[in-house]
Amino acid sequence: MPTITFANSKGGSGKTTAALLLACELAEGAPVTIIDADPRHPISTWSRLPNKPDRLTVVTNQSEKTILDEIESAATADPFVIVDLEGTASRLSSYAISQSDLVIIPMKEQQQDALAAIDVAQEIYRDMKAVRRTIPFSVLFTQTKVVAKSRTARLIATQFRANESLQIFNTEINERDAFSAIFAVGGGVRSLNPREVNNLEAAVGNARDFAEEVIRTLRQNADAAREVA
Ligand SMILES: Nc1ncnc2c1ncn2[C@@H]1O[C@H](COP(=O)(O)OP(=O)(O)O)[C@@H](O)[C@H]1O
Ligand SMILES: [Mg+2]
Repeated sequence: MPTITFANSKGGSGKTTAALLLACELAEGAPVTIIDADPRHPISTWSRLPNKPDRLTVVTNQSEKTILDEIESAATADPFVIVDLEGTASRLSSYAISQSDLVIIPMKEQQQDALAAIDVAQEIYRDMKAVRRTIPFSVLFTQTKVVAKSRTARLIATQFRANESLQIFNTEINERDAFSAIFAVGGGVRSLNPREVNNLEAAVGNARDFAEEVIRTLRQNADAAREVA
């Protein structure tokens, strides 16, 4: 039962947003638990708004002492477990990463986010050593402009995509009204009112493409692991 963790020590890199988009999208087809380990608990707050998908369970993380048990019991109950981490590298992060089938590193196409993403990748390599197994991870560009990307954004994206030691999602999470609106009105992008949100159809397509790429990535990683074994 795959556990997918969103990690980046940089606050505002888009972890919570991408985690919730993925959780709602996967919950269209299967039960999902999302563990909210962001100390501001934005997903727990969101879950008290209307329109939470029926198949989505939100667990509020208590502390680093409980995270392993929370992941274990969620993974026994549901086909997908998603962990939204806090914005600092910590023992809690390492515990969650150690249990993950895929770590997603969201980052904006900005220098500070890029440096933080590299730090997280190095952290994941240390966690791999500690647990003596490969932990697949993949970078996700977030809050990208649909039109008129800046020169810096293009440069950072090109450099990252040229780095063969990094897995990077083809799908980017664009900057969209719909993706911040869900935190204000509740539910997922599919339950938003198209009359109230700009370009909702594109947002729904973006979330769906992301979830499909996550599923493909999990499958490819599982196939690769079987070949090695
Ligand atoms: N793709 C996006 N489109 C629009 N707003 C976004 C997007 N991703 C994040 N945001 C906004 O940016 C801020 C930080 O995002 P968040 O997901 O909370 O980052 P993190 O969890 O890494 O701190 C929030 O106000 C959120 O609504
Ligand atoms: Mg967050």
